[in-house]
Amino acid sequence: MKKKILVTGGLGFIGSHTSLKLLENNYEIIVLDNLSNSEIEVRSRISQLAKKDFDFVEGDIRDRNLLNNLFKKNKIDCVIHFAGLKAAGESEKYPLDYYDNNVVGSLVLLQEMKLANIKSIIFSSSASVYGNSPTTKCKEETQLKPISVYGKTKLTIEDILKNLYKSEPEWKIINLRYFNPIGAHFTGIIGEDSRDTPTNLIPFITEVALGKKDQLLVFGDDYNTSDGTGKRDYIHIDDLARGHLFALEKLKQEINICADINLGTGKSHSVFEVIKAFERASGKKIPYKITGRREGDIDEICADPTFASNFINWEAKYDLDKMCSDVWKWKKMNPNGYR
Ligand code: UD1
Repeated sequence: MKKKILVTGGLGFIGSHTSLKLLENNYEIIVLDNLSNSEIEVRSRISQLAKKDFDFVEGDIRDRNLLNNLFKKNKIDCVIHFAGLKAAGESEKYPLDYYDNNVVGSLVLLQEMKLANIKSIIFSSSASVYGNSPTTKCKEETQLKPISVYGKTKLTIEDILKNLYKSEPEWKIINLRYFNPIGAHFTGIIGEDSRDTPTNLIPFITEVALGKKDQLLVFGDDYNTSDGTGKRDYIHIDDLARGHLFALEKLKQEINICADINLGTGKSHSVFEVIKAFERASGKKIPYKITGRREGDIDEICADPTFASNFINWEAKYDLDKMCSDVWKWKKMNPNGYR
């Protein structure tokens, strides 16, 4: 029988690409999304690509009654939990919203899962749990020192899941720690969209390439890196989505499990390297100006993806040029995102 997966936040950037992968791989899915940072249009785009429909529930993970009913009506095998707020800078301004959406939301979800006897979850964690670590190449056991409120909410949820596993070892839990997801579906039909002015590097560069912004501000060229600009481990959204399938396979094989897994490429790129790659992909010049550092930014962070390779047999396939050309295709086809 087909496995049924509840995907919370399944219309968001990572959620939409993962939902599509699940449908393509013969899973049945129910997407639960409150549309706070996603568009209903994404639902039909996913269906169009998968050539099949799926159940969608508009709602919030903090809505206990909604979850209770949903779990009563459906036999769910596993939850993939993306729903949450995700902007590190914004989290400093609105900490209560971040703790409420991310931590309280996850707690309600876990309590309702427990009541419904669903004890299998893949949680969307983030490399931001490493924060200002002493090393630039993070293994899963590297010290965790999140800087932003956002990173702290992710670490708190990881801790809650670990405490739960300790007291109830029949749970199956995988925390996926994403590095910097970028890119888009190779068709250009789904991709990254945000209601607000983008603050992340690639979404901002695409605005410059489209002529919507005059120039990119490079936040500092005095970092302790090869060219002075910040270096990050950018990962193609398709590789990331595929990582969830491999994690799901692992959960199916194990009787009980609680693991943290980095999803990154193991290579980091500087801001200048990203600009060059985007210029190659788009054929456009990206004007930029060097300004001061952005608060909370670190020199360099990169995944050590060895554990993912050994444990779930997953490795990233795509390079920075492919990430940039897929983003550019999506943006040319959808200059205003889904609107
Ligand atoms: C950010 C979040 C991180 C989140 C990730 C998702 C922060 C501090 N961290 O990571 O929690 O998981 O997005 O992708 O916000 N840069 C510029 N000019 C810009 C924008 C960025 O020079 O206009 C530089 C930054 O200084 C950094 C690099 O580009 O060196 C990447 O920045 P960004 O895309 O915002 O990602 P992170 O900050 O690494």
